Amino acid sequence: MLGNFAYCNPTKLYFGDEALQYLNEELPKYGKNVVLVYGGGSIKKNGIYDEVAEILKTNGKNVTEIAGVMPNPTLEKLYEGIEIARKHEADLILAVGGGSVCDYAKAVSVSVHCDEDPWEKYYLKFEEPACEIVPVGCVLTMVGTGSEMNAGAVITNQETKLKIGHVFADENIMPRFSILNPKYILTLPHYQMIAGIYDIFNHICEQYFSGEDDNTSDYISEGLMRSVIHSSRIANKDPQDYEARSNLMWTATWALNTLVAKGKPTDWMVHMLGQAVGAHTDATHGMTLSAVSLPYYRYIMPYGLTKFVRFAKNVWDIDATGKTDEQVAEEGLAAMESWMNELGLVMNITELGADEEMLEGLAESTLILDGGYKVPGRDDIVTIFRNSL
Ligand code: NZQ
Ligand code: ZN
Repeated sequence: MLGNFAYCNPTKLYFGDEALQYLNEELPKYGKNVVLVYGGGSIKKNGIYDEVAEILKTNGKNVTEIAGVMPNPTLEKLYEGIEIARKHEADLILAVGGGSVCDYAKAVSVSVHCDEDPWEKYYLKFEEPACEIVPVGCVLTMVGTGSEMNAGAVITNQETKLKIGHVFADENIMPRFSILNPKYILTLPHYQMIAGIYDIFNHICEQYFSGEDDNTSDYISEGLMRSVIHSSRIANKDPQDYEARSNLMWTATWALNTLVAKGKPTDWMVHMLGQAVGAHTDATHGMTLSAVSLPYYRYIMPYGLTKFVRFAKNVWDIDATGKTDEQVAEEGLAAMESWMNELGLVMNITELGADEEMLEGLAESTLILDGGYKVPGRDDIVTIFRNSL
């Protein structure tokens, strides 16, 4: 661990099939006015809405709602929510949903008491809030993003075709508490379940494939990746397997709550490419990542060969005897590819609605970051997208 860093994560987690009861312990800590945020209606169908509403009522809260937060929440929807939260003089924003709902709640929380335009301030200038932040709590219903224990909030500007994530530096933007009941994710459609599984895996990769030093974060990452692969195979065969789903829920949280980024430059280019695809197609986040991953990793592999060899051996159990480093590294990626196919992930951007004519626009929407083993140029980005078609 050669870097210098601070580590603080104040989110309190309640985990297990009885976790919602702890909402009764959390609610009294906040004022009366609660804004309940949720998505397109899944929580009404599976009964989570009723359970949460009952607890809010028992605790005497004055509740207003922001409903209909869509996957890949838009800036337009954000403006609407800010107005609702302002009018209600929100003391707590309670997000009940997946990453989109949790992200959205955080974006509202930093904007309610802010006079400036949130898109301009937080997503174009990447500034930190200088205002009071409304506390956020989460009841998680979809697993993958890690939004339940981090300070990230991704918003899509449909007009400019930019999907931008701001990972705030201020830990007060992390949810104050998150309720993780693995039973709540059992109603997810298979497509969302596997998209979430790949999102978890890729979050770990984005942090793992960077840096050269011997770093404890990499050993933790390898353990998390092995757990994801193991549980995903069980969950893919039997999505109702509580044990596998609960392990996936827990690994998702630890994959992106800043722990395994410690001491690492971190790459995040798969997410930048995926977010560009998301901005143009509104496709499911995890699938935008699976569709671009292999062309990206095959592009950077020669520059980070040592780490790709380690990945092959420690994550995929590739036997290196008598093989060159290149062969071992390629076998590791091939093993990953076959696991991705086994899950049924989307493996190209064509299936998500992209085509040859969109390549320049996709490259235009891709933010280029410099933490990985090779900083891609614009032409490289176009080539990676072309290889993802
Ligand atoms: O809207 P409803 O009706 O609730 O349906 C949702 C939605 O259609 C459904 N769903 C959620 N829980 C369910 C359920 N359906 C049945 N049963 C349940 N229990 O699932 C669909 C997808 O939900 P969404 O919240 O959009 O998924 P996810 O958790 O993958 O979140 C995606 C968003 O998070 C951002 C992504 O970019 C995207 O905007 N990310 C946030 C990150 C962060 N905060 O750090 C990092 C990630 O890399 C990611 O970028
Ligand atoms: Zn992600």
